Amino acid sequence: MDDQKIKNRIEKLCEEINRFRHEYHTLDNPSVSDDVYDSLMRELRELEKNYPQFVNPGSPVERVGGSPLDKFVKFAHKVRMLSLNDIFSKEELYDWEKRISKLLNGPTVKSTNLEYFCELKFDGLAVTLIYENGVFARGATRGDGSVGEDITQNLRTIDMIPLSLKAPFPKYIEVRGEAVMSKKVFIKLNKELEKNNKPLLANTRNAAAGSLRQLDPKLARARHLDFFAYDIADIEDSKFPKSKKHSEEHALLKKLGFEMDEHTKIAKNLEEVSKFIDAFEKDRPKFDYGTDGIVISVNDLSIQTKLGIVGRAPRYMSAYKYPAEKATTKVLDITVQVGRTGVLTPLAHFTPTIVAGSKVSKATLHNMDQIERLGLKVGDTVVIQKAGDVIPEVLEVLIKLRTGKEKKFSMPTKCPECGGVIEKKFGGKRSDLEEPNLSVAYYCTNKNCPAKNIRSMVHFVNALEIYTVGPKILERLKDEGLITDASDLFILTEADLSGLERFGEKSAKNIVENIAEKKNPPLDRFIMSLGIIHVGEETARDLAGYFGSFEKIANANKEDFDDIENIGPAVSDSLIAYFTDAHNQKFLKKLSLNGVKPKTFAKVKGGALSGKTFVLTGTLPTLSREDAKKKIISAGGKVSGSVSKNTSYLLTGDNPGSKYTEAEKLGVKVIDEANFLAMV
Ligand code: IVH
Repeated sequence: MDDQKIKNRIEKLCEEINRFRHEYHTLDNPSVSDDVYDSLMRELRELEKNYPQFVNPGSPVERVGGSPLDKFVKFAHKVRMLSLNDIFSKEELYDWEKRISKLLNGPTVKSTNLEYFCELKFDGLAVTLIYENGVFARGATRGDGSVGEDITQNLRTIDMIPLSLKAPFPKYIEVRGEAVMSKKVFIKLNKELEKNNKPLLANTRNAAAGSLRQLDPKLARARHLDFFAYDIADIEDSKFPKSKKHSEEHALLKKLGFEMDEHTKIAKNLEEVSKFIDAFEKDRPKFDYGTDGIVISVNDLSIQTKLGIVGRAPRYMSAYKYPAEKATTKVLDITVQVGRTGVLTPLAHFTPTIVAGSKVSKATLHNMDQIERLGLKVGDTVVIQKAGDVIPEVLEVLIKLRTGKEKKFSMPTKCPECGGVIEKKFGGKRSDLEEPNLSVAYYCTNKNCPAKNIRSMVHFVNALEIYTVGPKILERLKDEGLITDASDLFILTEADLSGLERFGEKSAKNIVENIAEKKNPPLDRFIMSLGIIHVGEETARDLAGYFGSFEKIANANKEDFDDIENIGPAVSDSLIAYFTDAHNQKFLKKLSLNGVKPKTFAKVKGGALSGKTFVLTGTLPTLSREDAKKKIISAGGKVSGSVSKNTSYLLTGDNPGSKYTEAEKLGVKVIDEANFLAMV
């Protein structure tokens, strides 16, 4: 990016982030999730660090929180209420230690053995409490860090805030902590709000903040907030013994009568910190309060003083944030991949970004419809999501961050792999379609397209369960001229393979044997392996069941196909197109010559489930989906991908999807695995 672009980006980011901050801090009504906010803030902080000449005076990086509402009396903080620097990975944790070690012990030092204190980062509202002569005198919100709002009356309604301290107490003490709403209370309140048709609370943090902003303390009381103290900002009492460590401050707060959260640890080094982080990550979903990370402090208070504060945050403390499931990034390019059927799939390439703990640099956009739905252009800033092991996806475009230089994407008119002609086709909407919910798709029409070719071979070996041959081997065999299509696999010899460099005799033998074993595949698997457009597992099974032999399928006409339940015109057109194509006919002939003969399909007549159609949803306790399907089919039943009036049973497991609601709506009988096993 050139200077002007960077300057513009910084300005746009400031504008958007300030808007989000206002929604979050002042209106208690955020329009984006914390992850998205953090992600943009991170980008801005990085840019400001590298280009200090472009830092805006109103930059959110240097500010803390929102401005106080006018409704409450302003409260000037004697000790500024700071914020924390976030860290997002273990790597950054170690970097932080390196930085502070250098400050403490000179630039040549690699790291210092520091003791740390770990505690939970509660997701609520930061408040400060002042006790004079052991009595709760005043309390306030953070506001902008220097001036907050006096919310004493509301704080008095929180049972976990002691109104008087246990002796011995200092003459004056200022305690910092987090006002929070438990998940239980949050759920209960939202249920009531829902019943009364009132707007729901967005999350526990906003619920806590909103409650403390109620002008009437009775309303605040009704919200049942809790409080966890985490720091002592100030003690004025020369006779009172001084804490030397942050852990001692926690112990003192407990003695003074605060209910302290017990998830804390004095860690001797970062390995122990890291273990604490990992251990709580497991408990976190079950914990009754919202948390968004772990606060890690250098435990020794005199070292804290040496390290000091920069800007809005202390150097001696960091907030480790648990992996965000959403992040923002920039779409650098959209490329197009050619699938085995020749279908073009657009792929977004991003600035590499960490989401849910791993680096993401691309995501499929599925099809042109998806790009249009998102309104996505190359250069856009997007929100991406990756929950757990789920494949990353683009959720939305942050249109306000556009510069005007974004480029509209259009599908190429020639195949990016072979230059072949691209054709636009309209498809159906069956669940077993290769391309998810396809409505319009673009295909490369070149029969010999190398990308199609290698991918169709991969599909073929997967469908026939030839597990010894993967994409790399196929590519190698093709490059060596040993195969031109999948049918050639069946005439490979051990000598062909073991002659190849880095190909042991043993693996050559394995491969040849494995391929030979698959010469008589089940009919449905064989149909599937051909990679006919719109013919997935379910359609292949329908065809096999209906015709019984491959010859009958290959010689059927459109009317025959149209007769079959579940097969629509897009599928029958595709079947006819496949079987009348000379190139495919040649391939099928070669397969046959090379000894491939699919079994005939004996339809189970009068089986226990004959005439019954099943739909599966969720995870079954003991059976895999495949096993359940096999059982249904071998008992004469049918498996369909979506619930309809024709569904006999919905077989459900854990975490059922929308099919469950659909079944309830249509009055389809819902059964579990035990019911099912009793039927077969
Ligand atoms: S220490 C120097 N400890 O996180 C700042 N903060 O991003 C002192 N928070 O404003 C903060 N739990 O609202 C600290 N155990 C904890 C915390 C905690 C939640 C919040 C607090 C603070 C924000 C910093």
